[in-house]
Amino acid sequence: MRSKLIVANWKMNLDFWAGLQLANAILQQLQAQAPPVAQVILLPSYLHLQAIKSLLPTSDLIQLGAQNCHEQAGGAFTGEISASMLHSVGARFVLIGHSERREHWGENEVLLAHKVTTALAHGLRPIFCCGEYGATREAGQAIPFVQQQLAESLFHLTATEMAQVILAYEPVWAIGTGRTPTPDEVQAMHQAIRSTVAQQYSATLAQQIPILYGGSCNAQNASSFFACSEVDGGLIGSASLQAASLVAIIRQLL
Ligand code: PGA
Repeated sequence: MRSKLIVANWKMNLDFWAGLQLANAILQQLQAQAPPVAQVILLPSYLHLQAIKSLLPTSDLIQLGAQNCHEQAGGAFTGEISASMLHSVGARFVLIGHSERREHWGENEVLLAHKVTTALAHGLRPIFCCGEYGATREAGQAIPFVQQQLAESLFHLTATEMAQVILAYEPVWAIGTGRTPTPDEVQAMHQAIRSTVAQQYSATLAQQIPILYGGSCNAQNASSFFACSEVDGGLIGSASLQAASLVAIIRQLL
C-alpha cells in the first residue's frame, strides 16, 4: 500500500520562535490522540530545521524537509543551501519545482532535473511539484502540460531513484487563491500522472509513488480530495500555519 502523507509548506512565514511554537503545538495535538494514518512532513524555513528536529520524538510521527535546495553539491554559491547541509540537520525531504520558485526565480525543467538528482544523491527525497496554469486548463491542455513537466524533470532518473520521489499536483491557479479543481478533476489528473509514470517505468513502480494534491486545500475541503482513490495526501500551504487546521486535515486522511 502507498504511504499517506501530509506535507506542510510554511513558505516564508513565521519567525524563529513562532515556528517552534507551531511545531510544538502540532506535535502536542497529534500526540493527544491515536497516531495518525498519515506521515506528517513539515517544511519550515531553513532557519527552523535544526531546532524543530530537536523538539521531535525519535518516532517518525513528524519528519522534516526543506522548501528548496541548490542544484550543486557545494562550492562558491554565496547565500545558498546545499542538499547535504539540509541532510546534516535532519531534513529527509525537499520540495522541488514549487510554482513560486518556477515563477519568481525562473526555475525551469532543466534546473529542476539537476536539483532532483542532487537531492537524491545526498539522501533527500524530492517532493516534486507539477501543475498547470489557469489558461492551460481552459485550453484543455492541463494533462499534456503536466506530463511534459514530469518527463523533462524526472524521467532521467533510474527506477530505483524514481521510487524515492513523491509527486504533488498543484494547479498554479489554485495556490493561495481559495479556488480548487473539483475532486473529479483532481482524480483524473492523478490517474494521468500515474499512467505516465507507468509507461515510462512500470505499473508496479507507478502504484508505489504517492501523489499529493495541493492548492487551497484546507480543513473544509480536504476530505473531498482525500476520498479520491488516486489522492495519497495533501501539500498544504496557508492552512498549515495553524496547528488546529493542519491537524484537522491530517485526521481526514483515512
Ligand atoms: P495553499 O498553498 O495551500 O496556501 O494554496 C499550497 C502550496 O503552495 O504548496
